[in-house]
Amino acid sequence: MRKKIIIGNWKMHKTQAAAKVFAKETVDLVARAKQDGIILGVAPSYLSLEVVKKHNKRLIVAAQNVHQEEAGAFTGEISLPMLQEIKIGHVILGHSERRQYFNETDAALNLKVNRVLNAGLVPIFCVGETLSEFEAKLTKTVIARQITIGLAGINPALVKKLIVAYEPVWSIGTGKNASPEIAQDICAFIRHELMKMYGKSKANQIHLLYGGSVKPENIKAYLSLQDVDGALVGGASLEVASFTKLVMNLK
Ligand code: PGA
Repeated sequence: MRKKIIIGNWKMHKTQAAAKVFAKETVDLVARAKQDGIILGVAPSYLSLEVVKKHNKRLIVAAQNVHQEEAGAFTGEISLPMLQEIKIGHVILGHSERRQYFNETDAALNLKVNRVLNAGLVPIFCVGETLSEFEAKLTKTVIARQITIGLAGINPALVKKLIVAYEPVWSIGTGKNASPEIAQDICAFIRHELMKMYGKSKANQIHLLYGGSVKPENIKAYLSLQDVDGALVGGASLEVASFTKLVMNLK
């Protein structure tokens, strides 16, 4: 059975001091959520990964990106062995901001996904269409391309560990969330694409998240959907109060 997962994506927010406060103040919340079958996580900046892990042992701590090579002349990058050394188990890959501002391509992301899985970590692989693609009714064409290239060639034994997040670019940080009907339609489509690639039983084990202006007021509508197993949350994950409400409003 698939679990419910809520991951906060902190992007370039929070100093180590602020991250530590958040981690300490959410220890009880993480334990209570777990009792209700909800897994909580956050993706802080690289600098705060260890800080959050140290002060909140049960919270999933995800990196926001990783380089595909183990080491080398790649100024400013972070490698998998560096994340493994501090016991980070999850990595967001292909967030639309990385695709948009850092030119991450489907082919480059495919390398990253495979390296991350083969190293024993869980990728949280993001897909989603831009506003112009949405308006041109190209959503499924774009998602199919992102999935078939980005998630190609995965070792069948590792496929079930994947987490895929559907985040329409036009809904990220805009307050214009995709309707639950759209979220369900696209997540079912993603699962169908994964079935074609890896078979029904494996595709049914993959966790699919919706992301894009998820707030305490609308989270329940998404997590009640058949093919949506959780949420990737930006703005509403930054404050302890709203992060707490996201969980509480699921009841
Ligand atoms: P948002 O961001 O919740 O602030 O829209 C979501 C994301 O970028 O993952």
